[in-house]
Amino acid sequence: MAPTASTTPAAPTPSAHAKMMCVPLTVFRLHNAREVDLYIWQEGEVEPTLYCSADVPLTATDLDRLTERGFRALYVTRNAYADLSEQLHQELNHILSDESVAVEERLSVLQTAFALEVDSAFQMINCDRAVSVTKNLAQKINGLLCDGAVVPHKMYDMLRHDFYTFTHVTNVASFATLLAEEIGITDPAEREQITVGGLLHDIGKKFVPPSVLCKPAKLDEDEWRLVKSHPQRGYEELYDRDDLTFGQLMMVYSHHERIDGTGYPVGLVTEEIHDWAKLLAVVDVFEALTGARPYRSALKPCEALEFLERNAGAHFDSEMTRCWTSLMRQR
Ligand SMILES: [Fe+2]
Ligand SMILES: [Fe+2]
Repeated sequence: MAPTASTTPAAPTPSAHAKMMCVPLTVFRLHNAREVDLYIWQEGEVEPTLYCSADVPLTATDLDRLTERGFRALYVTRNAYADLSEQLHQELNHILSDESVAVEERLSVLQTAFALEVDSAFQMINCDRAVSVTKNLAQKINGLLCDGAVVPHKMYDMLRHDFYTFTHVTNVASFATLLAEEIGITDPAEREQITVGGLLHDIGKKFVPPSVLCKPAKLDEDEWRLVKSHPQRGYEELYDRDDLTFGQLMMVYSHHERIDGTGYPVGLVTEEIHDWAKLLAVVDVFEALTGARPYRSALKPCEALEFLERNAGAHFDSEMTRCWTSLMRQR
């Protein structure tokens, strides 16, 4: 399935994603990409088409026309994406502090700027880099999200929904931050810890081969066992650090536990599961269902919310599910 000019930035197929990265149009509205070839990917086409070469400026009129035609993103090569991330990093503080730009749009820029940094830090053997990158990113996410100006469903629309690691963890961390605020966690330091936990929660997946994580078919028993080991492996990587709290470690270890005891790695029940892990479980599943995966297409947000509601009280904490679904339905 080729990416399309749909209402959300399209997700490339696994083979295409090795070559091209999608960048929300918002990024180009706020940042003038230099020396980067830009491509569009039309529905039904196997290859992207060059839209604007590096030496031709992309104008506001071009962006308006693309939006009118239904495009939400442009594509760049992976190398160009690294250049673009670098450029964004240099301008990041300026863009993030620009109050004339909607918070949701600034968050989208933040996600693009940190994408490769998060991906590469998470692949390193030693977790020091991952922890320091996530702390820096968590601080910026909190700076943006906790002034009450963000509209959750608009934020959802601005974020990417493909199967990259950085997309999943930055979305989950942003959702967890909003949900933490909604359930009454008012201490900014505590909320920031939750954001960091959200960014780190799947770090154990670095021990699962990409061929298994991206397998476009049902997993066999051994592969499934490997996938299910990621909370334990992540916990083992992080448990002896003195710069992470117990709650953060439990977000890593227990985010696949379900309150009726059907989760993993242990099969804990309600009161045995840390509140932050229960919170994470809600937004983690919401994000996973609404993101495209190599083995299935994405659900619409309303379908994912209905799934959470159907399983509230059995898999997910009822009150947290209620808070999340009402946040996402706010208009
Ligand atoms: Fe996970
Ligand atoms: Fe996850």
